[in-house]
Formats: sequence, C-alpha cells, structure tokens
Amino acid sequence: MKNNDLIDLLKSHRSIRTFTNQQVTDLVVDEIIESGRWAPTSHHVQAYSIIVIKDKEKKKELATLAGNQSYVATCPVFFVICADFYRLKQASDKHGQAFEIGEQEQALVGAVDAALVAQNMLIAARSYDLGGVMIGGIRNDPDAVSKVLGLPQLTFPVMGLCIGYPAQNPEQKPRLPQRAVVHKEKYNQTKIKEAIDEYDQVMKSYYYERTKGKRSDTWSQLMAQFLSTPKRPQVGDFLKKQGFLSK
Ligand SMILES: Cc1cc2nc3c(=O)[nH]c(=O)nc-3n(C[C@H](O)[C@H](O)[C@H](O)COP(=O)(O)O)c2cc1C
Repeated sequence: MKNNDLIDLLKSHRSIRTFTNQQVTDLVVDEIIESGRWAPTSHHVQAYSIIVIKDKEKKKELATLAGNQSYVATCPVFFVICADFYRLKQASDKHGQAFEIGEQEQALVGAVDAALVAQNMLIAARSYDLGGVMIGGIRNDPDAVSKVLGLPQLTFPVMGLCIGYPAQNPEQKPRLPQRAVVHKEKYNQTKIKEAIDEYDQVMKSYYYERTKGKRSDTWSQLMAQFLSTPKRPQVGDFLKKQGFLSK
C-alpha cells in the first residue's frame, strides 16, 4: 500500500452499521486480530484481551445488553476489546511481587491499550473492504456482559467492534475544524467559541440533508444535551468490583 492510500483510508472513515450476509473468513478475522496485537502498548504491559464472537445467540444477547443495538446481532463478527490485568497479576505472582493497580492510572492504561488495539483492528478490517462500528454500549451493563463472556477479575470490557461487509454507503460525518482541535505550541482558548459556531452551521446542514429536513440540530446542542446527565454511573462500581480504582 502506498503512503497516500493509507491516508485516504484513514480520512474516508465512516461507521458502518448495516452489513451484507457475506461471512468474514477465519483468515481475515485472524489478520484483523494480528493487526490489533501489534498496536503500541503502555510500558509493554499489553493490558487487553480480544473476545471474538460469532455465535448468533451470544451476539443477540450482547446486542440487547448494549442497549438494543441490532447491528451487534447482525454483524458477522463482533469483538469485545477488554482491558486486562488478569495476565499481569499472574506475572506478578510468578515473581512474588506486590500488585498495585488501585490508582486510576492503571484503569486508564488498560482503556488506552484496548482503544489502540480496537482502532488498529478497524483500520485492518477496512483494508479488506470491510466496515464496522465501535460499541461503547457494551459498558451499559458490564456485570451482565462479563457473565456472558466469562470475564475474570482484573478485566473490564472497554468497547465492542462490529465488523462485516458494508450494505450501506453513508455520508461522512463532518469533524470539528482543525483549528478547533489543534493548537500551535500552546493551548489557545480564544478561538474555541468561534470554531464551535462555525461547526454548528456545518453540522446543522449535515443533519438537515441527511434527514431530508427532519432534523437540524447543531453539534453544540447535541453535546450540551448529552453531557447534561451522568453517563453510565455503574461503570465506576463495576471497575471497583473488578479490582480497579481501589484508592
Ligand atoms: C469508543 C466508541 C464507542 C462507540 N459506541 C457506539 C455505540 O455504542 N453505538 C453506535 O452506534 N456507535 C458508537 N460509536 C460510533 C460513534 O457514534 C461514531 O464514531 C461517531 O458518531 C462519528 O461517526 P463516524 O464514525 O461515522 O464518523 C462509538 C465510537 C467510539 C469511538
């Protein structure tokens, strides 16, 4: 692949939620996993695990637990990428060392490692003309998800990833302008308000066109609404139960 092909692939990202019936071969699934496995990892801890789910009933169950997201059931292959310190505990035990993961730092490390793996997997899938979407809804009921997947202590599901051959061709969702997210040498607070105003107009037109006039929300309206209520308060308790955030 030429460099520009990779850049084009990255810049043409869209989440895909509708899939054809075409199955993904084991060889391709394996290559997607291998690409995930080569993600960089904090301090070489490799604090993640990938659960591969193809079983129809299990996907259905997870679709319900993820907030009735039907594409979790209809995608040919669903991955759950977990933060995982279970292996690391075994490494510590092997050497009779104390095992300190009570600080928030290690929960962050696990979540970041899992996210890097997941993004590598999605990009690898796209190189095979597959498409997909990440599923944060997998954290809606982490207790139940853990039971379905048999997740041990010292692990938690970070995100799901639906993968399959696209049966839709959605428009790309516009991103914040570069000047809203990039700062030269130092954070510049003064440009943010204007950049939001500009982006609000872009997103308003995007929703208007996408819904043939039914919706014309601005980005700031949607974000304000989204952030006006606590999100997944159960996650904190679950992480504590799993051995994280004890301090
Ligand atoms: C960590 C993460 C979790 C996500 N969870 C969900 C989800 O549960 N359901 C869903 O439909 N999309 C989910 N998405 C997809 C986002 O909604 C999507 O990436 C965003 O709206 C931008 O759209 P695009 O990916 O098509 O550009 C998730 C994305 C990420 C990165």
